[in-house]
Formats: sequence, structure tokens, C-alpha cells
Amino acid sequence: MTGDRASNQAAGGNLIGGQQSEQPAGGGNVVPFPARATVLNRSGRGSAAVAPVSGFRAIAVSSGKGGVGKTNVVANLAVALAQRGQRVIVLDADLGLANLDTLLGLHPRATMRHVIRGECSLSEVLIDGPRGIRLVPASSGFEDMTQLGGGERLHLLEQVDSLEEEFDVLLVDTAAGISSNVTFFTTAAQETMVVVTPEPTSLTDAYALIKVLSTRYAEREFGVLVNMSRNDTEADRTFAHLSRVAARFLDVSLRYDGFIPYDSELPEAVRRQQAVIELAPRAPVSRAFDALADRVLSLPTEPRPKGGLQFFFRRLLEGAQP
Ligand SMILES: Nc1ncnc2c1ncn2[C@@H]1O[C@H](COP(=O)(O)OP(=O)(O)O)[C@@H](O)[C@H]1O
Ligand SMILES: [Mg+2]
Repeated sequence: MTGDRASNQAAGGNLIGGQQSEQPAGGGNVVPFPARATVLNRSGRGSAAVAPVSGFRAIAVSSGKGGVGKTNVVANLAVALAQRGQRVIVLDADLGLANLDTLLGLHPRATMRHVIRGECSLSEVLIDGPRGIRLVPASSGFEDMTQLGGGERLHLLEQVDSLEEEFDVLLVDTAAGISSNVTFFTTAAQETMVVVTPEPTSLTDAYALIKVLSTRYAEREFGVLVNMSRNDTEADRTFAHLSRVAARFLDVSLRYDGFIPYDSELPEAVRRQQAVIELAPRAPVSRAFDALADRVLSLPTEPRPKGGLQFFFRRLLEGAQP
């Protein structure tokens, strides 16, 4: 996205990699890199036991930098969760080129913009993806939601209400960087999963995103998923690196959500417009998505209605104000 790098740096990015140091949030001296880290669930938990689910999960998948694999994470996690009996709704909130519908070979009929304009209903916008997942296709209409009048809001919430009981999980594929799009959706969702790669620029930009979400939007907990790692050592190092800086300079808790290996099966699946977990279920990358789904399901949910679809949309309607 245009301006991401500049805005990330303005937000305190470009500080990770090499001999790291940063000015603490209050400004002032450059201090050396700390050894302490605030880390929850460092092990990423086991992959087998899945507790029964009664609540609802809304997870925004985000990143500081584009091209780190968000859309693929959302698509494959959605399929893996659906394979585990979860009823999944996916919201494509990134207006970029490589959209979720393209990735999954789907053809949207209408978008959220049509719903906002009252041209069709919310359920008419949903398209069917693999394994019964439902997708709300990409549209700039989401931001228009904050402009809706009282009657229109009520109408939209009534439509959301009618879908409320149909889903267990909402995954949101957001844009990258510190745009209003990202803050809009991450603050509406209960959970934010930040995707990083071992590249220093990805870490820098992830740090800048976490910094903005914590300092301006009071977000405190973040899941961190390391994608395109060569092995677990590299992934561990990547997470440790990010968590050290975060623990030193920010009031946040980072939870390690594990890693997805670099695997040539994935670009092949992208070319074929299928989720890799469906095309090559036994590939290492697919196994990693299985483990990720198990881990997500092992995390506590918010009970309905507070964590429900209605609440997510209510928060969107209120808009994310710094
Ligand atoms: N685990 C992986 N292994 C190999 N290639 C990957 C992996 N994850 C992502 N990629 C590559 O990166 C590209 C960008 O991924 P994408 O999900 O579109 O990123 P984003 O949504 O963050 O912009 C994919 O098309 C694929 O070629
Ligand atoms: Mg994407």
C-alpha cells in the first residue's frame, strides 16, 4: 500500500534488525535491546485436544507489510476450521489485487457496498467457498458503514442478527500496514493475529502496526503467526525478536501462534485457485494450517452475544476512532 513504509516509520517502525534500539514511547534516550519478553502461551499449545465451543470468535488477520501471506492464512485457516466442524464466515476487507475470492476461484455477485446502498441483502452477498465456508467479498463499502443513518444501521444490524446463529467463527482478511482500514477491522474483532515473516522489514512493519494498535487503540493482546519460515528455529527466533522489542517498548502481550513453513505447494495452489490445504492436505504447509486451526480452537471464546457477529458489526458501525 502506498505510504505504508513512510507511515510505519513515522509510527516508530524501522527499528528491528541489526543492533536494535528504539526510543521508548515517552521519547528520550535510545536504549539497548532488552532481554525480557512478555509472552503468553509460548509453546503454542498442543495440537490435538479441541475443547467444545459455545462462544463466537472474531479474528482479524493483519500484517505490517503486504505479501506476507495473510490471504492464504485466512483461506486455509477457514477451510481447516470448517473441517473441524466450525461454521466459518470470512470477510475480505482488503481491497488489494490478490483477493480471497480470486484465491479460492470464487465469483462474487455483489459486495458490501450493495448492502450499504440497500440494493441487496447481506445474505445475498455471501458466496459459498470450499467446505461450506461463506465469504463476504472485498468491497470499499465497509468504510461507508460509519456514514449510515440510524434507520439504515438498524436495518443492517437486523440482517446481521438473522445470521448470528449461523456461524461460529469470523475471519477478517485486512489490508496491510497502519491504514484506517486495518485499525477499523482489528479494533472491531476480539482477536488480532499479526502475520510476520522472518524478513527484517516484515518484523519492523509488524512492530509499527502493534505499536499503533496498542498506543492509539488500546489493543493489548496479539497473536503472532510466523509465515514462510524455513524451520521452527527460524520461526522461534523471529517471534522472540518481535516479542523482545514489544516487551521493552510497548504495553502488550504477544502470543505465539506458531509458524507456517515456506512450501512450494502453496504458490502452486495459488496458481490453481485452490486452498493448499485442500489441494495438498499432506504437505507440510497444510499440516501447519491444521495445527493452527487446533490452536485457535483451544483459545477461549467470548460468550454470545458480547462476542457475536452483531457486536462485531456494532463496533464497525461505531467506527474506529483514534
Ligand atoms: N507458506 C508459504 N510458502 C510459500 N509461499 C508462500 C507462503 N505464504 C505465502 N506465500 C507466497 O506469498 C504470496 C503472497 O501471499 P498472500 O496470502 O497473497 O499475502 P498477503 O495477503 O499478506 O498480501 C502468495 O501468493 C505465495 O506465492
Ligand atoms: Mg492479501
